[in-house]
Amino acid sequence: MTDSFCKQSIEENIKDDINVVFYEKTDSTMVQAKRIINEKSFSNIHKTVVVATEQTTGKGRLGRSFYSPGDGGIYFSVILSDGIIENPAIITASVATAVCRAIKAIYDKDCKIKWVNDILLNHKKICGILTEGIINPVTNKIDTAIVGIGINIFVDAKDVPVELQNIIGGIVENPEQIKKTQLLCSVVENIFDIFSESKNVKNALVEYKKKSALIGKKIKVFPVIGQMDNFYYCFVEDISEDAKLIVRTENNEVKYLDSGEVSIFSKTVTE
Ligand code: BTN
Repeated sequence: MTDSFCKQSIEENIKDDINVVFYEKTDSTMVQAKRIINEKSFSNIHKTVVVATEQTTGKGRLGRSFYSPGDGGIYFSVILSDGIIENPAIITASVATAVCRAIKAIYDKDCKIKWVNDILLNHKKICGILTEGIINPVTNKIDTAIVGIGINIFVDAKDVPVELQNIIGGIVENPEQIKKTQLLCSVVENIFDIFSESKNVKNALVEYKKKSALIGKKIKVFPVIGQMDNFYYCFVEDISEDAKLIVRTENNEVKYLDSGEVSIFSKTVTE
C-alpha cells in the first residue's frame, strides 16, 4: 500500500544530520519528544525528529485529540533547541510554510494556511501543527520547542469519524501515491533550512502570508476557547510580522489576534 517507512528509510533519505527516533506505535510523539528532552537522550537534542507510524493518543491544540490512524498519514515531532525561542507563533508559522513547500515539492500541490496552524487543500484540513515550548528552569526562558506535525496523505472516507468527514481530507486520492518517507524527509529538511538563518525565517513568514486562507475574508472569531456561543465577526486585513492576525471588527476597531479560534465565514471577498 505504501512506500517503506521506518527509521532506516528515513535516515537513508534525509540530507541533514538528524537524530531519528522511530516508533511503530506510541501514545504521542509529543510525549516521547518531552521524554527525550528530559532524559537528555542525545548529546545535542536540537535536530531530533520523533516519528510514529501510529499514535494511540495523538494530541491536537487546546487539549483536543488528533485523529492519527496508521496507514495514510505521517505523525512526527521535531525538537528545536538552538537558542532562545522568542515567539512560538513564529515557529508554527514557519513550520506551516515548510510543510507547504514539501507538499509542493513531493506532490506538486499548492496548499493554503488557516492561521495559525492548519494546512488546507481543497478547503479541507490535511495537516495540523502543534507547538509546545519548554522553559529552561535556570534561565526561565523558553529555549526548546517541540513542533508536532500530523499530515494526512491519504484518507479513506469510510474510515473517518462522521463528525470529521467534511473537515479533514488527504493530499492524494489513491493509496498507491502515498510517499511517507519522501514527504517526511522533505518537511524536516525544509524546517531546518528555514531555521538555519533568520533571513530564511523572514522569507518563510512572507510566504506564509501569501498562502493565507484568511486574508481578505470575513471570519468568525471565538475569543475564549471552548465558549462557542461567545463570538464576533470581523474582516481579516493582514498577518503581522510576529504572526498575529490583524482584523477589523464590525465597529471598525482593529485588533491583533494571537490566540482564539477562527472559522471562515465568507468564502471570498478578494478572490
Ligand atoms: C491540531 O491540529 O490541533 C494540531 C495537531 C498536531 C498533531 C501532531 S501528530 C504528531 C504530534 N503528536 C501529537 O500527539 N500531536 C502532534
